[in-house]
Amino acid sequence: MAFPAQRLRRLRRTPALRRLVAETRLGVDDLVAPLFVREGIDAPVPIASLPGIVQHTRESLTKEVRELAELGVPGVVLFGIPAARDATGSAAWDPDGIVQLALHDLRDEVGDRVVLMADLCLDEYTDHGHCGVLDAAGQPDNDLTLDLYARIAVAQATAGADVVAPSGMMDGQVAAIRTALDGAGLPSTAILAYAAKYASALYGPFRHAVDVAITGGEGDRRSYQQDPRNAREALAEVAADVAEGADMVMVKPALAYLDVIAAVRAAVDVPVAAYSVSGEYAMLKAAAERGWIDGAATALELTLAVKRAGADVILTYLARELAEALHG
Ligand code: PBG
Repeated sequence: MAFPAQRLRRLRRTPALRRLVAETRLGVDDLVAPLFVREGIDAPVPIASLPGIVQHTRESLTKEVRELAELGVPGVVLFGIPAARDATGSAAWDPDGIVQLALHDLRDEVGDRVVLMADLCLDEYTDHGHCGVLDAAGQPDNDLTLDLYARIAVAQATAGADVVAPSGMMDGQVAAIRTALDGAGLPSTAILAYAAKYASALYGPFRHAVDVAITGGEGDRRSYQQDPRNAREALAEVAADVAEGADMVMVKPALAYLDVIAAVRAAVDVPVAAYSVSGEYAMLKAAAERGWIDGAATALELTLAVKRAGADVILTYLARELAEALHG
C-alpha cells in the first residue's frame, strides 16, 4: 500500500510542535472589554441575561478597569445608562452625563495604560430607544442625528476618551464626528467606526443590560442597521467610513459574520475590530451552565475563530475571563 504523499499528522504529535506551527495566536492584547456604567445606583446590578456582567457604579467600574489593566487588557468600551431619558437623548452629550463622568474617573485611575473607548450612540439615552431623533415617520432623521453625534463626540473626547465608537449606522456619521472633533481642537481622538453593523437578533441581552425597549417606528432598527442577507453592502459601508476618516472599522456581530470579517480584512488596511455581542455570550453561558458544553474551552475556540477570520481587535464580554485563562 502506498504511503500518502503528505503526513499531516506529524506536526500535531506534541503540544510543543502544535504550538510552534500554530497560525493564529489569541492573546490578551487582542481584547477589549465592553462595560456598563449606570447613573444613580449605589451597588453594581447584575444583568440576568449576561451572567457575570453587571451595570457598574462609578466606583465599581473604576475597580474593574484597574483589575483589567493589571491583567494586561489593553482596552475597554463604555456604555452609559442614564437616570433619565428624553426625546433627543440629551444626557449623551451632557458634560456631567454618566459616561463623561466615568471617563474622567478612569483617566485619573489608569492614565494611558488602558485605551478608553466610548460607544457613541443615542439609544441608551432616548425615551423611544432609537439611535437618533425621530422624523414624522418615527424613524431616525439621518442629518439631525448627525448634529447630535457631533456633540456627543466632543463631550466624550473632552472627558478623556481615546477613541469614540459611533454605533448608530447613520450615513455620514464618521465625517460629521471627525469634523466636529477637529473643529473642537481634538484632532488626536480616534474613531472606531461600527462600519458593518447588522440588524441582529443577537443584541437581545444588551437591550436588557441598558434597559432599552424600542418603542418608536417599527420597533426594530432595520431601517438603519444592515440586512443580515447582505455581505457586499458591508464593504460599501466600510469603504465609506474609511474615506470619511475612520481610524479603525468594526464588524458586528462577530460569530455569525465571520465571512464579513474576512472580506473586510482583505479590503482595507486599517485595523479591523469585531464585536462578539451579548447574544453570543449569552448562548455560550446558557449552554455551559447546563453542562451541555465546556464553557472555558468553547470561549477560547469561538474567540480564536474571530481572530482567525481576520479581526485585529475583539470586543468581547469574555475579555476578563479570557485574560485570566491566557495568563493561566
Ligand atoms: C447601540 C449598540 C448596541 C450594541 C452596541 N451598541 C445595540 C443595538 O444596536 O441595538 C449591542 C451590543 C451587544 O449586543 O453586545 N448603542
